[in-house]
Amino acid sequence: MKEETNAIRGQIDRTAYREHSVPMFLTSSFIYKSAEQAERMFAGEETGDIYSRFTNPNTTELINKFCKLEEAEDGVVTASGMAAVFSTLASHLKSGDHLVACSSLFGNTNYIIKNILPTWGIDHTLVSADDQNEWEEAFQPNTKMVLIETPTNPGLEILDLQWLSELCKKHNAIFCVDNCFATPILQKPMLFGADLSIHSATKWTDGQGRVLGGAVVGKKEYIQPIFDFLRRTGPSLSPFNAWILSKSLETLGLRMERHSSNALRLAEHLEAHEKVRRVRYPFLSSHPQYELAKNQMKYGGGIITIDIGSAKKEVFAFINRLTIPSITANLGDSRTIITHPATTTHSKLSKKEQEASDIYMSTIRLSIGLEDVEDLIEDMDQALNQLR
Ligand SMILES: Cc1ncc(COP(=O)(O)O)c(C=O)c1O
Repeated sequence: MKEETNAIRGQIDRTAYREHSVPMFLTSSFIYKSAEQAERMFAGEETGDIYSRFTNPNTTELINKFCKLEEAEDGVVTASGMAAVFSTLASHLKSGDHLVACSSLFGNTNYIIKNILPTWGIDHTLVSADDQNEWEEAFQPNTKMVLIETPTNPGLEILDLQWLSELCKKHNAIFCVDNCFATPILQKPMLFGADLSIHSATKWTDGQGRVLGGAVVGKKEYIQPIFDFLRRTGPSLSPFNAWILSKSLETLGLRMERHSSNALRLAEHLEAHEKVRRVRYPFLSSHPQYELAKNQMKYGGGIITIDIGSAKKEVFAFINRLTIPSITANLGDSRTIITHPATTTHSKLSKKEQEASDIYMSTIRLSIGLEDVEDLIEDMDQALNQLR
């Protein structure tokens, strides 16, 4: 079956009640027919749910759908996107290992790499997204993993998945892609040779800003240690959140098409506006990696990054004049969201670190929703036209 049919029809076995829509399995544990069956299940001689920190029918359904959508062998789901990032790092890296990562990473991922991993004796090298020499030189004999995001947040730089996966193979490093911005619909890192793909399901998967969740999918041999880590340390996804997210995957394909077409139309409009200094969007032909983006992504995605004015006062005045977008730090919602990274999501980075991620006082991140794009254009225009 095609990917979207899988996301819509993929469902765990029906119960004796013959429900059409999958029920929520709000139970901490599962019962056994006998003491013998309990013993067999704990011994791994018979498969089945034991305890919801390990597995649950709702989380199993969500994992299966994620794997099908992304053409991955296996997966896990987690309590949040950060739990997915952290459990991937913590289950694969040990004292003495070295990590290579892109310098433009989500702020909290950057924090883990710089502030938590070093206390466990795990060293790192951060590399500029677009400098192939820097990537080649970053590897050390003890490099165990490479972690990137593409498109990056909020700079929307595109990293070459095929090239990086070949480099990782040469150095025997696990290649891990945070695929949050692209979603399994727009980009399938496994098809370009990645080993693991991470998601904050809180974003486009949920799509309505309701629940937190995360996922990691990829090669079975690399998923197993993450599953073992999760089942023992406990950042498991609740069955309730898994139920919401699994239902949400049924509409992800349709939504990403509309988020992307709205974003492209708005990006083209903003690029032609005299008050906008710079527009970054992967499917604009002016994007420096336009060809690469077209090669590895199905559509351009729902995020646009723009630069307007220069002083904080001007930028804040623009944000405050908009009537449709919500001012919030989330993204991937049916409602358009506006964020000022320098003073919110990326405010903990130094000015130098912000600039390395292409974030300035003038930078604004827009997560384009499902509204009628003509309304968004009209709203942007009225707020821009009031800029001096
Ligand atoms: C690229 C990326 N990875 C991970 C996360 C963390 O996800 P969560 O907020 O679900 O923990 C985010 C959140 O914005 C993100 O943008």
